[in-house]
Order: sequence, then C-alpha cells, then structure tokens
Amino acid sequence: MTPQVVVTCGVGGVGKTTTAAAFGVAHALAGARVVVVTIDPARRLADALGVSLTSHTPERVPLDDPSICGTLSAVMLDRKAMWDSMVRTLAPSADAADRLIHNRYYRAVSTRLTGSHEYMAVELLHALVAEGAWDVIVLDTPPASNAEEFLRAPDRVRRLLDRRVLEALTGSAGGLFGGATRKALGLARRLIGERVFDDIQEFLGLLSAISEQVVAHNAAIDKLLASRSTAFYLVVTVNHGRDDDDARFIETLRERGIRFGGFVANRVHEQPPPIQRFDPHPPPGVDPAAWAQWVTVLGALPAAAAREAEHDRRAAERLASGGDSVWCLPEVPGGAHSVSALRRLAERLPPR
Ligand SMILES: Nc1ncnc2c1ncn2[C@@H]1O[C@H](COP(=O)(O)OP(=O)(O)O)[C@@H](O)[C@H]1O
Ligand SMILES: [Mg+2]
Repeated sequence: MTPQVVVTCGVGGVGKTTTAAAFGVAHALAGARVVVVTIDPARRLADALGVSLTSHTPERVPLDDPSICGTLSAVMLDRKAMWDSMVRTLAPSADAADRLIHNRYYRAVSTRLTGSHEYMAVELLHALVAEGAWDVIVLDTPPASNAEEFLRAPDRVRRLLDRRVLEALTGSAGGLFGGATRKALGLARRLIGERVFDDIQEFLGLLSAISEQVVAHNAAIDKLLASRSTAFYLVVTVNHGRDDDDARFIETLRERGIRFGGFVANRVHEQPPPIQRFDPHPPPGVDPAAWAQWVTVLGALPAAAAREAEHDRRAAERLASGGDSVWCLPEVPGGAHSVSALRRLAERLPPR
C-alpha cells in the first residue's frame, strides 16, 4: 500500500521542522505507523525526538501514553550518508561504489551540488516508501530552500547527472579536455597534476555509470509526489499574508499534479482565557499607590492579548480568502520542543 506522504515547506525559521514533528504526532495519535524525516531540528527538539546524525535509521519516539495505538519514529537526514547509500545501491559493483566514495572529488561535489540537499530528502522518501513499514511519512524540507527550490531540485540534479552531459565531459573526444591535441592533453595533465587529472576523469566516469539509474529513480519519486496520498503544506507566519512566492509555489504544485494541503499559519496568538478582575482594594499592609499601579498594568494585559489574537485571526482569514485551507498553530510559550508541546500543535492539524 502506498503510504500517505506529508511535506512541510516554507522559508527558513517559520516552523517547518516543528510542524513536521507535530504532523507526525497527529498521525500517531490517530493510530498510524509514522516516520518523520527531520532535517535541522532545534537541539531540544532533536533530543525530544531522539534523532542524531549518527543514526540513519528511524528511531522510535516514546509517546508515554498507552492510549495511543499508533507509533512515531524519527530520523535526521544526513546528506553525505544518503549520497553514499545511493551510490552503494546504484553503482554497478561494490568495487565501483567504493572507488567513487573514496574519490577525493566525490565528497566535495556531492555536498556542493546545488539542490543536493533537497534531492537527498526526496531520495530518502523513496527509500522509506520501499521499506513498506510506514502508513505515513512526514518530510521536513531543508532550511535554506524555499518551497519552489525544493520541488525543482530533483530536476536540477537530474539535469546535472544526465548521461549525455557526463559523457560529453568524459567522452571519447577527450571530454572535459576535448579538442586538446595529445600534446596539449599531456601538458594539461602535467599542469593539473597526474593524480588530479585521473581522479576527475574517474569520478565523472563513475557518475556517468550510475546516472541512468538515478533518472529512473527520479521518475518513481515524481509519481509518488503526484499521488493522491501526498500533500504539501506551506508553513507561514500568520502576518506574512499570501505573497507572489506562495502563489508561484501553489501554481507549481498544480502543474505537477501535486496536492496542496493548505497553509499552516504558525505561532498564532490565541484568545487569552478570561481572568478574574483584580480587587482594586489592596490587602492590609500593602501600599495602595503601588497596588493601584499594578492593577492598572495587569488589568490592561488581557485586552492587549485579545487585540493581538483578533489581529492574528483576521490575518488567518485573509490567508484563507484565496480558497485554500489554513491551519493555525498556536504560539507555545517557551518553545515547541517537547512531545507534549507537539501534541498541543497536533490537535490543530488537519484531520486524516
Ligand atoms: N508554534 C510554536 N510555538 C513556539 N515556538 C515555536 C513554534 N513553532 C516553532 N517554534 C520555534 O521556532 C524555532 C524555529 O522553528 P523550526 O521548526 O526549527 O523552523 P524551521 O524548520 O522552519 O527553520 C524553534 O526554536 C522552534 O521551537
Ligand atoms: Mg527546519
């Protein structure tokens, strides 16, 4: 069965990782076997979820509530580990994989390739689907990328790894050093250095060998993203409003046949609970002037908080005016770092 896939997008710092974790909790509460792929969790959230860069397999998150029949697991995406595992899966032999992984250009290129982070997130998604152990996979997206970039990254990597490009770089005509006469080639070899020259040629040759399979893998990922069980959510701060980037993103999703689940307006101020009126009469022994000042200051707070909440409510309404769903997550005092805080957020996320 194809698992349900939830992807949280948005600009850095808005709460993508927090929202992804909250989606994970929401689905686990509903009884699903869930895995959340986090990318850059804040330290305390990473601790709460038990994820670390040294573990590349999903770890179970203790939910400390026997009434929950679903399970929550989490894993942190490590780009380098993902590239290595992809090379191992796709290379024609273990020997070829080893040579590529130990090639000195491999590390630099695999982490610097534009879109490499986003591409690996999608690759990991593919691997988790293949495991068949999950009802729901929640995918957080990289900090620096906006939603558009995230969707375009696989295309970009696919183009870079295109067999024809790689063959042209390494090809029989001399590739990267094409057009050079034997003498010039010898000179280039001496100038760049024999080892460097050979390593670059070997690296490109090996990439060329795996590129065809990368392309095939990519097509499967595209199909998965366009399935009805996938939904992308755009996390925003409520006052941000709907801007051109959002419109472009939603349009890109539509073009690709990907379902837009709606906006997640994060850190929304909620209506404060009513508080008892302060007694204007000071208790015995308390300075009446000081008491009166405190009563005035504290007495004004609920009204200020209510105005803030009303402001956010209107902003959320404006966000929804385009016809898309808006899910409001409250500001959790002190930060959303614990499973119990995530449960508070989870209650507000869309029903399954
Ligand atoms: N609803 C919330 N209430 C309180 N703190 C939040 C909330 N959402 C996010 N945060 C905090 O904001 C910071 C950034 O959130 P994070 O999810 O890491 O953003 P992103 O992944 O978009 O960069 C974190 O410290 C997180 O705990
Ligand atoms: Mg993040």
